[in-house]
Amino acid sequence: MKNLSNKKVLFIICGGISAYKSLEIIRLLKKNNAEIKTILTKSAKEFVTPLSITSLSQGKVYDDLFNLENETEMDHITLSRWADLIIVAPITANTIAKLSQGSSEDLASTVILASNKQIFLAPAMNVRMWEHQSTQDNLKKLKNYGYKVIGPVIGDMACGEYGEGKMSNPTDIYHEIYNFLSKQTKNRKIKALVTAGPTKEFIDPVRYITNKSSGKQGYELAKSLSKRGFETTLISGPSNLKIIDEKINLIKVETADEMLKATQKSLPTDVAIFSAAVADFKIDRQNQDKIKKQQDLTIKLEKNIDILNYVSNHNSMRPKLVIGFAAETNDLIKNAKIKLSSKNCDWIIANDVSKKDRGFDSDYNEVTIFYKDSKNKDEKLSFKKKSKISEEIVDRITAQIN
Ligand code: PMT
Repeated sequence: MKNLSNKKVLFIICGGISAYKSLEIIRLLKKNNAEIKTILTKSAKEFVTPLSITSLSQGKVYDDLFNLENETEMDHITLSRWADLIIVAPITANTIAKLSQGSSEDLASTVILASNKQIFLAPAMNVRMWEHQSTQDNLKKLKNYGYKVIGPVIGDMACGEYGEGKMSNPTDIYHEIYNFLSKQTKNRKIKALVTAGPTKEFIDPVRYITNKSSGKQGYELAKSLSKRGFETTLISGPSNLKIIDEKINLIKVETADEMLKATQKSLPTDVAIFSAAVADFKIDRQNQDKIKKQQDLTIKLEKNIDILNYVSNHNSMRPKLVIGFAAETNDLIKNAKIKLSSKNCDWIIANDVSKKDRGFDSDYNEVTIFYKDSKNKDEKLSFKKKSKISEEIVDRITAQIN
């Protein structure tokens, strides 16, 4: 079967005795028609040769950040964008430490730092290096950033010791890559929409009502969906965030009315996630001119249309999966469940927004997913980066939609 046609794998090999096993993973990928480019770190060249890799992969091997010939043909940014997936096998304790620090001192670490693709790591090292607290702390950090770690496994080591630290079996690593890439292909045909950020409701041309939403949670969700192959539209209220994934269709809006129109235009989709903190009210009659100073001022507000409600009750164009968010400061479970049914969502993702270290304008969150289908139990995703929370939500979306 040639199932990985059109799939592009960037294979990074670090220095270690198990580097030779990576050749088998490359062989399996090539057998399934994946396109492969390889980066060898300086020490990897002590264990495998560029010639052996090119012969197997029939793809280019890169090794030096400052190689001008390569940079003119494909610079490090283009190389990281080119890939559908990046695998580092084996990865050493040293490279794990470098990545956890955001270092970019060689081609491998620079490409990884510049990447917005899924990165898999297959560690291999001595058992004591693996068990060392610093290695475990560094890995925890990388997992929190969304890296997927395969292995290591327990066994006899080249150094004569026995324990955990052996690189996983090449076939197992290949299967993990294969599963990810084939799900990505299935998801390609699936359209997803995400709303994010605050809205601004104008009082006059220079004054408005808004809220503390930064857009971070919604942008991370859009990035995770796109990384998994979903055809993703992100409708964003005012936010300073930048999106570097050119595959995401970004639509910028300011007001709730504009967000509603953009959402209507983007339908139909298969999945819709409403993470935006849409203003519940707008100004009854917006002043065309700047309001002059006066003794007192009364502003009348009128209700904005609930975008989530509109979409989830749209008979002909209701997405298969409608996911709302609930921002709560008290009675989280009770209020979230009320929103789940009153807004006719399939899932509602509740977050406590009373704490400073999570929720609005933070890189972190802690959420509980409530499902309409009573067969599914509520699930708590513990306190972690919004990027990781998003990965875990998209894991569940992928499982449900496929
Ligand atoms: O943007 P960040 O700084 O990263 O913060 C993330 C977040 C805290 C804003 C996000 O995680 C979140 O909780 N978003 C929902 C905020 C909200 O408005 O919650 P709500 O409980 O008031 O609304 C319930 C649901 O209805 C939400 O899915 C909301 O998008 C939707 N809604 C509300 C009003 C409206 N007019 N239209 C809507 O679609």
